[in-house]
Amino acid sequence: MPDAPSAEPVTAAETPAETPTETSPSPGDVHPDAWSGVHRGPLREGEWVRLTDQKGRRHNFCLVAGKRFFSNRGHLEHDEMIGREEGFTVTSSAGGEYLVFRPLLSEFVVSMPRGAAVVYPKDAAQIVALADIYPGARVVEAGVGSGALTCSLLRAVGPYGRVTSYERREEFADVARRNVDQFFGAPAGSSHPCWDLRLGDLAEELPRTGEPADRVILDMLAPWECVDAVGDALTPGGIVCVYVATTTQLSRVVETLRAHGGFTEPQAWESLVRDWHVEGLAVRPGHKMIGHTAFLVTARRMAPGERPPVKKRRPAPGAYGPDYSGPRPAGMATESLEPVELAGTGDETPDED
Ligand SMILES: C[S@@+](CC[C@H](N)C(=O)[O-])C[C@H]1O[C@@H](n2cnc3c(N)ncnc32)[C@H](O)[C@@H]1O
Repeated sequence: MPDAPSAEPVTAAETPAETPTETSPSPGDVHPDAWSGVHRGPLREGEWVRLTDQKGRRHNFCLVAGKRFFSNRGHLEHDEMIGREEGFTVTSSAGGEYLVFRPLLSEFVVSMPRGAAVVYPKDAAQIVALADIYPGARVVEAGVGSGALTCSLLRAVGPYGRVTSYERREEFADVARRNVDQFFGAPAGSSHPCWDLRLGDLAEELPRTGEPADRVILDMLAPWECVDAVGDALTPGGIVCVYVATTTQLSRVVETLRAHGGFTEPQAWESLVRDWHVEGLAVRPGHKMIGHTAFLVTARRMAPGERPPVKKRRPAPGAYGPDYSGPRPAGMATESLEPVELAGTGDETPDED
């Protein structure tokens, strides 16, 4: 992808200059568009546009005066697009039609340069909603990877919140900074004022800061290594949300959260998204879907010294049998291999909240 846009950020001057605290400016002091990553008005040089052709193929590029965009249907002049309100159709020199819009956040993150795999928009939406990311929240995330989730978190915390992102690999942190700065249109040499990108391992660095967190989001290979540090940083009632790709990771992180003892029973789920084809009488599911991307887990932090109620329900037969070698909830000794009678426990029925 070409360089980051030189377009002015929406309202850099209107955002809080300092770390948001209880004494941060009141909502009336900040322009509602501040650091949303959304531009309004005519397309400007240095902004990114997303062209969609008649077959649905997408092309993202940065508008540069005097430059041409080439495709298999001839070329288009950037100057034809600069100065127009987004949401129009342009025709290339060989007669191809292209729809022109600014990319949405969900479109930007799947087309931006990647250092590491990104959290896909369907999962970012689940994280924002079910990890309850709110305006003003103090959110910690690790690792930052390519910065995709960071963009959603920064939007959700708004101009009075804070996102502190830990990344242990410098080359990924550099990619993330470029992507996040580009999305929010940060002026050269600065970044989103509510973002703090720190190089280092979360398990080592978080305890050193002593900073409290309302929400912690983990997207990494071994999130169980960070559970103690997260438990110490989270405020009572705070939420840890973990994003893991495999069942072995899912099992280990859930059992580690249980064994910690200071979290509520972890909830685990995944989301599958299927498009639908809707055309006259032909209304049917699409042939392709976004199936497995990752599993999500959430748990809430208990108050200091408090423990969740003892579970009345016994574990499934063999769950913690001799073949199980992971972390065990407190008081859970190795079971015998004999099947356990669970009549009447309703184990197959999901809990009602
Ligand atoms: C899958 S990527 C994260 C992608 C990111 N959430 C996104 O949406 O673009 C995982 C990242 O976690 C980093 N990482 C792994 N363990 C870490 C730790 N303990 N502390 C900080 N970063 C860590 C890796 O270097 C890698 O960049």
